[in-house]
Amino acid sequence: MSSKNKTLYSRLNYLLVFPLLCAGLLISSCNEQARGFALPAGNIEEGKATYTSLACNTCHSIPGVEWTGGSDSLKIQLGGEVSAQKSYGYLVTSIINPSHKIARSYKQKNPDHGGLSKMKNYNEVMTVQELIDLVTFLQSEYDVIVPPTHYNPYY
Ligand code: HEC
Repeated sequence: MSSKNKTLYSRLNYLLVFPLLCAGLLISSCNEQARGFALPAGNIEEGKATYTSLACNTCHSIPGVEWTGGSDSLKIQLGGEVSAQKSYGYLVTSIINPSHKIARSYKQKNPDHGGLSKMKNYNEVMTVQELIDLVTFLQSEYDVIVPPTHYNPYY
């Protein structure tokens, strides 16, 4: 093969390889979601039942669920209006490793929390199915309200 032919040949190779590479990247980025953290679908009613059977309502209040805590116990609200979706990654972590990230609202009211959550540990008693249903129930209790923005790039 002459050297002229060789360069032509390698150019042609690039022409073929480049679109293939792009297509590969496109396909892998579409698949990105499938690789993330995902729980199977849970059941809201079962989750609500688990919430009361595990006595979460002795420390947490949710509208529509009876409050069973004492008058001097913690009453931390779950659900309600939030500005961003509480991901199930966040909710799962809050339940099985509560000290990992202490809830911001709680930290503000109790600055001397010492980095340890007062939340009970359920890891020995809760089944994975109960956790899935609980998170599904909790997610359904949040209303995402997007704050209005006044940003307009044309002003
Ligand atoms: C003994 C009291 C107590 C019990 C019982 C309890 N928690 Fe908590 N929980 C807390 C405290 C205190 C916090 C705030 C500090 C923190 O983030 O761990 C909290 C935080 C949370 C958060 C994060 C809230 C936020 O706004 O970020 C979730 C979710 C949660 N609890 C779910 C549950 C569920 C579900 C149950 C029942 C399985 C439960 N908790 C039982 C005390 C409790």
